[in-house]
Order: sequence, then structure tokens, then C-alpha cells
Amino acid sequence: MTERKFLRIFKKHNQHHILDHYKNLSPQKQNTFLQGLEGLDFDLIFALHKDFCHKQTLSRITQDIRPASIITIPTSSEEKAFKEKARTIGESLIRKEKIAALIVAGGQGSRLGFEGPKGTFPITPVEKKTLFQLFSESLQAMSMRYHTTIPLLIMTSIENHQDTLNFFESHNFFGFDRDSIHFFQQGMLPSITPDSKLLLRDETNLFMNPDGHGGSLKALYDSGLLTYLIEKGVSELFYCQIDNPLVRIADPVFLGYHIMMNADISTKVVRRINIKEKVGVYVSVNGRDTIIEYSDLSPEKMSALDDHGDILYWAGNTAIHVLGLPFIRRLTQRGFALPYHCAEKSVQAIGPNGKLTKTQCWKFETFVFDAISLTEKTCCMEVARNEEFSPVKNREGADSPETASRAMNNLYRGWLEETGMAIPPDTQIEISPLFALDKEELVSKLKGSRLDIEGDVYLEEK
Ligand code: UTP
Repeated sequence: MTERKFLRIFKKHNQHHILDHYKNLSPQKQNTFLQGLEGLDFDLIFALHKDFCHKQTLSRITQDIRPASIITIPTSSEEKAFKEKARTIGESLIRKEKIAALIVAGGQGSRLGFEGPKGTFPITPVEKKTLFQLFSESLQAMSMRYHTTIPLLIMTSIENHQDTLNFFESHNFFGFDRDSIHFFQQGMLPSITPDSKLLLRDETNLFMNPDGHGGSLKALYDSGLLTYLIEKGVSELFYCQIDNPLVRIADPVFLGYHIMMNADISTKVVRRINIKEKVGVYVSVNGRDTIIEYSDLSPEKMSALDDHGDILYWAGNTAIHVLGLPFIRRLTQRGFALPYHCAEKSVQAIGPNGKLTKTQCWKFETFVFDAISLTEKTCCMEVARNEEFSPVKNREGADSPETASRAMNNLYRGWLEETGMAIPPDTQIEISPLFALDKEELVSKLKGSRLDIEGDVYLEEK
């Protein structure tokens, strides 16, 4: 950003503490400071600040909320046939190279409190493979199964981009051809105090936060990757988060349903564990599918039961989606369509008093699931939690590495038991995606053979 533009914008928005700070920097440091402001939309930040000051006085969502229409786990033979039809369609899409996979990994992972990108966290029960390795092997296995190449896109942020790249480089990109794996950075947004003051991270940088997982759609467009994929003939994007090791990456059934329903965006959901689970809920609002954050749904709705005593609004968001690329282009090419959310955080930053202190600030983000209510063409599919959803959010307790690793172990145990094997209760089990991607593949591979189980079990492709 030029100095002239900086002075104009910061005067206009009464950021005199930053202007004073800038004046006292050496010319070289001033230059570095200005470079860091490049591409930031300050008018947006101050407009959002004004909006949210106003919104704080508004009440909760009061629209007409109902359970959404969802493809549940098939039980009848008709439903099973529908699922198999979806699988065939999805498989054909994969074979025709119409699919790319996106993993969003730009978050700060503050609840986990792990040094380094979350994707470098060791998670599998026996081999302690990292999340990045696990996802990479799963996608490679899918590509091999369908004799094709599914490109992998990984979104990072400025805070973890270089570490992520170094990690992949030091592991030879886990076998990916360099031109089928793409890393791109999401945008950053300056954080702001409730009384409208920007903060400094250090001498030459404003205090900023990544612009949310919704920023993946904007960054795909801004980086040119969206156009690149469209020109390559890719039509759908499988989207997931780095923190769920149970994701069935590029699941053909899910892709098939998405196509059969002619959807712009599809979502996998699981049944909420109980009325208190803190998970976004997939509902219909004024006739449109929408995901509402648990904190935005009234306590009455969160705990409502149906006639059978089951949770009425049962569909918990897994953050696994398929998005059509033309839809992503519509949301991004004429200005970014996703709405911003505001969260108050306590951070260590240099405030208007010039000292490094704990300061309350607002961070603005967009959420990818807000794309759902921007189209009428949606599809939602129920999946079994124990098979597909166990996120790593917290250091311990619920949704922690321990629960995720246990979920993987239980899943693999179930697959092995399907082959008729008896497994001692304390045995830890891990099955490499390169050995078997699912129960069916495992059963067919181990047909007739028996494993001598002594200690933990790790099955890998020889
Ligand atoms: P979360 O919202 O759970 O955040 O992100 P987080 O960064 O993992 O953890 P906390 O909240 O700081 O403890 C869900 C997924 O979205 C990605 C994360 O990397 C994770 O895969 N994400 C989140 C981004 O890629 N960018 C963001 O700005 C936010």
C-alpha cells in the first residue's frame, strides 16, 4: 500500500495511535509495515464493525425453522438401490477426472494448542501418522482404485503456509506428483477492538486473523486455482477439514447424490449425540436449507423432540461438502457473497497504549456452510458418526486426539471383525488406506487368510 493511501485511510477511520506508531518507525520498517497492508480492505473492516455494533442489540434468529429434507442412511432395499446408483454415478465422475479435493487447513488450532500446523499432528492409533499423511494416502488410494488422478488442494494461511509446505517437501509430498497437489493461502483480516481500534501484532505488523474457512472459496478464485480447475474439466469439489481423520475423501456415494439431486452444494450430517452437543444444525429456514450455529438456535429448538422422543433437529454438521465449481464462481467473481460473522476473542496484542497486553478484540470470518442458504439446489446426506466423524478440536476431553484415535481404532476393529477374526480387547488396530479404504475392500483382501495377532496390528500395502 502506498504511504499516501495508508495516511488517508487511517486518518479517515481515526486510527491515530497507528499513525503515531508509524511516524516513529525507521524508513525501512515503515516500508515493511506498508507492504503488510497490501490487499487489505479497511473499508470492509470498519463497515463490519459498525454493522456488528448494531447487530449486538438484535435478537436471535426468529424465522420459520423446520427440519430439513435429508437422505437418511438407507434401510429399505429401494433406498439401498438408490445409494448404489449414486455410487455408480460418483465413480464415473471420479474416473472422468471431474473431481478435485480441498482440505482447509488454515485455522489457528488454538483449542488444540499444538506447535505447528494441525495437519502435522500425529493421530493414527498405531503408526501415529499425521493428519496430512493420512489424508494424502487416502486420496492416493482413491486415485489408484479408479486409475485416475484426483488433484489435492490444501488451503493454508500466512501463519502456517511455509511450515505446511516444508512438511510436505520433507516427505516428498507423500507420493503426489508435484503438479497434482496445490497449496494456496487464505486471506487475512485485521482484528479490531470493540471501540473500533486496530491493534499491532509487533512493530511492523497489524494484528490479524485468517478470514475463516469460507475464505477458501474466495482464495480459490483469487489464486486462479478455480479457473485452472474449470479449464482442466473439473466440475465438482470435495471439501473437508483437516481436523477429521475419519473423512471418506472423495466419497463416490456422496458425489453421486450431489449429481442426482442436481445440487450446487451438498453436506454430510450426523445425528446429534444429545441436545447439548455444540454442533451446527442443518435445518430448513423459510423453506431454504441452512446450517445454524448451535449458539444461534434457541434453547427450545436445540432441545425440541419429535413424537418418538428423538431430537427433532437431529442433523449435526460434519463440515464435509461437495460444491459445484460454477457455484463457487458465482459466489466469488462479482464480489464475495458469503456473510461475515464476528467473534470476540482475548488476544496478546499492542493496543492504543503502545504496550503488549491482553486485549479484547473482534475477529471477522466467513463460514463455508453459509453458501448453503445462497442456493435452492442443495443435497444433504446422513452418515454414521462412528464411521465418518470424529474431529480433533480440543487438547483433551470431547473431540480431542484421544477420542479421534479411539474412533479410528474402533472403526478398523469393526472392519477386521467382519472378516470373522477375534481380536483381543486391548489390541490397537490401524489399517493403512493404501491397504484398504473401507470394510468391503478389507474383507475382499483378507478373504480366507488369517492374521496372527500379537500386540498391535498395522496393515499396510507391501
Ligand atoms: P475451526 O473453526 O475448528 O478452527 O476450523 P481451528 O483453527 O481448527 O481451531 P480453533 O478454533 O482455533 O481452536 C475448522 C476447520 O477449518 C479450518 C481449520 O484449519 C479446520 O480444518 N479453518 C478455520 C481454516 O482453514 N481457516 C480459518 O480461517 C478457520
